Amino acid sequence: MSEMQFDVVFIGAGPGGYVGAIRAAQLGLKTAIIEKDKTFGGTCLNVGCIPSKALLESSEHYAAAQHELIKHGIEVEGVKLNLPTLLERKDKVVKDLTLGVSFLMKKNKITTFNGWARVVDAHQIEVTMANNIKPLITTQHIVIATGSAPIELPFLKFDEKKVVSSTGALSLSAVPKRMAIIGAGVIGLEMGSVWSRLGSEVTFLEFADKIGGTMDSTTMAQFQKILMKQGFKFLLKTKVTGAEIKDKEILLKYESQTDSSTSLAVDVVLVAVGRKPFTEKLGLTELGIELDKAGRILVNEHYQTPKYKNIYAIGDVIQGPMLAHKAEEEGVAVAEILAGQAGHVNYNTVPGVIYTWPEVASVGMTEEQLKEKNIPYNAGTFPFVANGRAKALGFTEGQVKVLAHQNTDKILGVHIVGPRASELIGEAVIAMEFGGSAEDLARSFHAHPTLSEVIREAALNVDKRARQM
Ligand code: FAD
Ligand code: NAI
Repeated sequence: MSEMQFDVVFIGAGPGGYVGAIRAAQLGLKTAIIEKDKTFGGTCLNVGCIPSKALLESSEHYAAAQHELIKHGIEVEGVKLNLPTLLERKDKVVKDLTLGVSFLMKKNKITTFNGWARVVDAHQIEVTMANNIKPLITTQHIVIATGSAPIELPFLKFDEKKVVSSTGALSLSAVPKRMAIIGAGVIGLEMGSVWSRLGSEVTFLEFADKIGGTMDSTTMAQFQKILMKQGFKFLLKTKVTGAEIKDKEILLKYESQTDSSTSLAVDVVLVAVGRKPFTEKLGLTELGIELDKAGRILVNEHYQTPKYKNIYAIGDVIQGPMLAHKAEEEGVAVAEILAGQAGHVNYNTVPGVIYTWPEVASVGMTEEQLKEKNIPYNAGTFPFVANGRAKALGFTEGQVKVLAHQNTDKILGVHIVGPRASELIGEAVIAMEFGGSAEDLARSFHAHPTLSEVIREAALNVDKRARQM
């Protein structure tokens, strides 16, 4: 095989592409990966999961120093924010991790190309590299993992300074006094938390009648109440209809079913109304590769495009939740399928997390979905307020809800709002992966005192037999 011939080429080095490439190389396939951006890691590592979590962590420390430590008898005077240092720390976390991905490519002997990939035909990809060098790569299989990009509103074009997408919201050079967030979904809630903790007055303008998109409704209602106590303002059932971008401020015009005003003046607007699959200049139209109405590449259960059985697509660019771990699992599955194994993803157990304070984490079906599908279920809930570890931590808001089948007791969904929910949900994912029942959770050891005991109590409460309350 020549240097430019491969068994498989991944287009895009995000969690889908780079994890898939590693698995393919592990399985002995001659593998290459093409990335248009300077660094590897995709949205997640560069402008997504990782920088947002770094900022959430730092802003949490700042808020704790201002409002929480005093409760522990720790008096700190003169707490000051150094925003440039906070942002530099975030950039360093990103740099270390993206370099880590480059290192992993080398370690696994994956050939890397830095440039824009265009699929020329079923087996050839042209890469436009620096200095307009355009090598042609030949491959048995192509995996498209080109991810997604923020959706813009026609009257609010991103300048990434005053009208920002999530990318601009990760690097604001000053804390805005007034910030509007259009869309109270995952990005809005996380980035809103960051800037609110650093001092912004944050107002959400949300089209739907609830926050958090499709997440469990009662869990979201409880979460919204907690966030309102933190100072967030929510205008639900609200449609932003236009905007006047002035020198010093932005005037948003809106129609609301929950608020009598019709305009809001702010310093920065974050538009977080969802993301769209990214397939620009990839050559798909020329090849006749079909997209669905949402612009996602259509694939079958083996991630193959119907027209070309050797062209696959994974991650944000296909249907399903736009989550890094979903993209990763699909990367692994496609590599295993290419190596003749039974690659498979269990979409019933993809966890979803909102990394705010408190956190929200859920897996499986919501109560609304169960009702819609006429699945009989029992629900067990338990609050953090009765948990010793939550008390010691000083954070007792929130609850765990376990949903189990009425006849078989099989766990169908778990929804948590509370401290460290992102870590707690792992237990529920494993239990569901093993086809476990609420009783399995309830009868398993949970170290005392831990927050995880709230999961056990909620599981016991499916059968109305919680012990601690
Ligand atoms: P991407 O990560 O988008 O990677 C695609 C890559 O393909 C990019 O690097 C792009 O440059 C490259 N590319 C595109 N076209 C070409 C081309 N023609 N040639 C060469 N290269 C190309 N998910 C979570 O699970 N947890 C989180 O906490 C989380 N936080 C997030 C926070 C924010 C602010 C955002 C925006 C997203 C977050 N996500 C999170 C979502 C997560 O980032 C995505 O689901 C994930 O990155 C998708 O992975 P992917 O590999 O499909 O695509
Ligand atoms: P989202 O789909 O989570 O939320 C968008 C929100 O905007 C919804 O509540 C929707 O009703 C609302 N909306 C849509 N159009 C609107 C309009 N015109 N006016 C007002 N509201 C409107 O999308 P978001 O937050 O942009 O995130 C994009 C993706 O990134 C998500 O799919 C998510 O999975 C992923 N992500 C994941 C994170 C995590 O796992 N912690 C963190 C950040 C992003």
